Amino acid sequence: MQHQVTLRNQMTVPALGLGTWYLGDSQATRDREIEALRSGIDAGMTLIDTAEMYGSGRSESLVGEAIAPYDRKSLFLVSKVLPGNAGRKNMVSSLQGSLKRLGTDYLDLYLYHWRGAIPLSETVDCLEGLRKEGRIRAWGVSNFDINDMKELYQIKGGRNCQVNQVLYHTGSRGIEYSLLPWMRERKVALMSYCPLAQAGSLRKGLFSNPVLKEIAESHGCDVTQVLLAWNIRDGHTIAIPRSGSQAHTLLNAGADSLSLTEEELARIDEAYPAPRRKIYLDMQ
Ligand SMILES: NC(=O)c1ccc[n+]([C@@H]2O[C@H](COP(=O)([O-])OP(=O)(O)OC[C@H]3O[C@@H](n4cnc5c(N)ncnc54)[C@H](OP(=O)(O)O)[C@@H]3O)[C@@H](O)[C@H]2O)c1
Repeated sequence: MQHQVTLRNQMTVPALGLGTWYLGDSQATRDREIEALRSGIDAGMTLIDTAEMYGSGRSESLVGEAIAPYDRKSLFLVSKVLPGNAGRKNMVSSLQGSLKRLGTDYLDLYLYHWRGAIPLSETVDCLEGLRKEGRIRAWGVSNFDINDMKELYQIKGGRNCQVNQVLYHTGSRGIEYSLLPWMRERKVALMSYCPLAQAGSLRKGLFSNPVLKEIAESHGCDVTQVLLAWNIRDGHTIAIPRSGSQAHTLLNAGADSLSLTEEELARIDEAYPAPRRKIYLDMQ
């Protein structure tokens, strides 16, 4: 993959990875989903994002089956701990469950899925403990807005956060106002979820927008590829589109070879302007 992102800790990952929410939920589509994930890996999408929450572990089990034939070191596995498990009482057993389902003995990145009632300092302490023991190579957060990030930065060990995974797509650019610049300054990478706005359903008209369609036509590509190329345009963003289809996954991987011109980016800005004021975090 041409587009790569280097994290603060110097780990380098592909800018396009594989999302897995809802994958593994149905026995009927299991083989197809495994085939889709493997095609993505073969095409260079070696970063896989999952969570203990997804299908109560079923997505992790599906990923475990999909990656079994691959060299573990060639993959970058990301999973997430639920808020209620993100403390001293449950985090170790949560991680053990994830590792077992994934068929591995370490995670490359462990994310705190969203903020809950457990004190942030306790969560960070546990994540740092797991990192020092080598059971996770790095940790990050998800669904943290700017005030959460500022609070995290005041906590001992909090600055070891590598990534904030938040919703970001062309039709939802709120983070560009203050959260993203704050993260850039501190080299906390953005991992964009819902980069395809859940097949366009989160932003009416996105897939049929005339500007995006024209740009896609001029490159001989699909609108989804324009959305993904736009998402990873700055070299510091990792997008994790999800697909249970091999054809869609290959299209998504193909966005790696698409570069949008300054003029095209300006046209997209006109159609979907960057925010001019603080907008609270969009979430799914
Ligand atoms: N941290 C969090 O709180 C959080 C929240 C939401 C998501 N996530 C992560 O981010 C990942 C991505 O978000 P998401 O799954 O919600 O939404 P998404 O990736 O924006 O969209 C997924 C949808 O797009 C379709 N799709 C994918 N590629 C396509 C293509 N080339 N052409 C047409 N349709 C295409 C998929 O259908 P097909 O299967 O038919 O291709 C699926 O319906 C998740 O899977 C998950 O890993 C994290």
